[in-house]
Amino acid sequence: MVFQLAQVVPWGRSFADYVGMFGLTDEDLGRSVLDCAGGPASFNATMHRQGQRVISCDPIYQFSAEEIAQRIDETCPTIVAGLHENHDWFVWSEAIPTPEALGECRLAAMGEFLADFPQGAIEGRYLVAELPSLPFADRAFELAISSHLLFTYTAQLSLEFHQAAIAELLRVADEVRIFPLLTNFTTERSPYVQPAIDALTAQGFRVEIVPTVYEFQRGGNELLRVWRDRLG
Ligand SMILES: C[S@@+](CC[C@H](N)C(=O)[O-])C[C@H]1O[C@@H](n2cnc3c(N)ncnc32)[C@H](O)[C@@H]1O
Repeated sequence: MVFQLAQVVPWGRSFADYVGMFGLTDEDLGRSVLDCAGGPASFNATMHRQGQRVISCDPIYQFSAEEIAQRIDETCPTIVAGLHENHDWFVWSEAIPTPEALGECRLAAMGEFLADFPQGAIEGRYLVAELPSLPFADRAFELAISSHLLFTYTAQLSLEFHQAAIAELLRVADEVRIFPLLTNFTTERSPYVQPAIDALTAQGFRVEIVPTVYEFQRGGNELLRVWRDRLG
């Protein structure tokens, strides 16, 4: 299937958001990290500036910074309007009191991504690749993180896709972290979470659901961690 920018709603979070979503410690940040479905998040830009090792992959990286920026401009007002319509599904705070404030935060993060993307692509830090098949060697990374794709898009992606995608992330990394566990536009855990955990556990992988300090989608305060080394 051809990946079309017109069907994508690019929306990227900041380095601080990533630290909160994935419970990243200083030790984690020192590992070689794959951000799968990194989109227009500024995690890679900040990691690189801090001298850390990171590669982000996403089908959106086949487009230019200008094309992605244009799509962000087109879709941002729709997202902010959607946040107003579904105000109670989100956790508003002093730091982010309104949908407009959230829009500003996300635009700042995406601006950082857009500034870094052209040079980062030349350096091979942003690669065009999509689940469930990644162009990396077995155990190429110590940690793979993925946010707001798996479980989020339960309505669009099958359980089989989720299982194949998690297996692929476990092939390329020693540990996988996925956030959040909610189906998009709900406050409910995705119905795929338990079957995915059951299958991984049956295969002998160590799996944990860990609470996060980060919560913007109400109820979105859990992280799935899976370790490649099998139990026993
Ligand atoms: C909502 S964005 C999340 C971006 C970032 N992880 C964050 O949380 O700020 C979801 C991203 O998933 C990407 N995506 C869609 N299908 C994908 C696939 N099969 N494999 C990897 N990424 C995919 C989209 O292009 C989009 O950039």
